[in-house]
Amino acid sequence: MNVPFLDLKAQHAPLKDEILAAWSNILDTCGFVNGPHVQGFEAAFAAACGVEHCVTLATGTDALIVPLKALGVGHGDEVILPANTFFATAEGVSQVGGTPVFVDCLPGTWNIDPAAVEAAITPKTVGIVGVHLYGQPFDVDAVQAVADKHGLWVMEDSAQGHLATYKGRKCGSLGVGAGFSFYPGKNLGATGEGGAFTTNDGALAAKIRMLRDHGSSVKYHHELVGFNARLPAVMAAALEIKLRHLPAWTEARRAHAKRYLARIAEIDNVTAPVEAEWADSAWHLFVVHVEEQERVLKALWAADIGAGLHYPTPVHLQPAYAELGHKAGDFPNAEYNASHCLSLPMFAELTEAQIDHVCATLDRVVNG
Ligand SMILES: Cc1ncc(COP(=O)(O)O)c(C=O)c1O
Repeated sequence: MNVPFLDLKAQHAPLKDEILAAWSNILDTCGFVNGPHVQGFEAAFAAACGVEHCVTLATGTDALIVPLKALGVGHGDEVILPANTFFATAEGVSQVGGTPVFVDCLPGTWNIDPAAVEAAITPKTVGIVGVHLYGQPFDVDAVQAVADKHGLWVMEDSAQGHLATYKGRKCGSLGVGAGFSFYPGKNLGATGEGGAFTTNDGALAAKIRMLRDHGSSVKYHHELVGFNARLPAVMAAALEIKLRHLPAWTEARRAHAKRYLARIAEIDNVTAPVEAEWADSAWHLFVVHVEEQERVLKALWAADIGAGLHYPTPVHLQPAYAELGHKAGDFPNAEYNASHCLSLPMFAELTEAQIDHVCATLDRVVNG
C-alpha cells in the first residue's frame, strides 16, 4: 500500500469545478489584484480566527516581514524566537534589519520555552515571535507574562496553526497579531503562494495594508517605503472556497492524530507527540521521535510511505546565521528534536487503513 505524505490531488478533486469557475470569472473581469475575492477571503478568514482584521499578503514569509516592519523593528533591535522552527521565522526578523535571538524549546511539545525567553531578554529586545510548531499552540500566556513584565510584544507565527486553539482561543487571536502561511502543503493551502496577518489592532492592520501596497493607500501617493506583497485574486478565490472546508479537514486531522496516538502507544522505541493540556492542535504535522532517524526515514520511503523531517537542522546552526556564532550544544532540546524527529503522513483524506499500515510498517522498521 502506498501512503503519500500529503495528497493535494485528493483534496482538490471535489473542489476543482468551483475553483475553475471562480478563476474564469476573474479572467472575464480582469480583477487580478485586490478586489472582491481578496476582500471576501480576508473577512472570512478574520471570522475563522475570531479577530477583527485580516490582511492578506503574498507569502507566509511576507506575513512576518511586513508586520515586523509595521511594528518598527529595525537595525539594532533584537527579536526572540525559537531555534526550532522553519527558517522563515528568523528570516523575517533579519529582512527588516533586526537580529534574531534564538532560544531553546521544551522537550515534549518542542515549542518555545518561556523561561528561556526571559533569560534571553536584553535592553535591545523589542519583541518575541512564538511559533505554533506542527500546529500545536505554544504556551502563549506564559510568554505573554514575560513580555508584559518587560514591555515587549508577542507575535504569533501561525504558519502551521490554522484553527488550532489555546485554552479555547483561536491561534491568530492571541498576541499583537499572527502571520499565517497558505503555502500549498499547509492546512489551508493556496494554489500557489499566499499568506495573511490577523490582528485585533486596527491601526496595525491599516499600516500593514499600506506597507503591502508600496506604502500607499491612495494611488501614487506613498506615505511609507513598503513592499509589493499583495495576494493575487486567483489565490484568494481558491482560498475562499477551501476555507469553507477547513473546519471539517481540521476535525479529520484530529481524528487521525487520535488513531495514530493509540497505535503508536503500542510500538516500542517510538515516542509519540505530546499535546499540551491547553492545546487543541491543528495537527499540521504528526511528528514522532526515533533513534536512527535517517535509517528509519529511508526504510519508510522504501516501503512506499511518505515521511519527512521538520526540520533536520535547527535555525541557529544554519550557515546563513554563522555570523551569530552559535555552535552545536547551544540549544540541546532543539538539536535533539532535529536529530530524532520524523513526520508521518498527515492530511484530511488519510484513511484508517493507511494509518494502521503506516504504524505497522514503522513498528517493523524500528523493531525488526
Ligand atoms: C513556521 C513557519 N513560518 C513561516 C513560514 C513561511 O511561509 P511561506 O512558505 O508561505 O513563506 C512557514 C512555511 O513554510 C512556516 O512553517
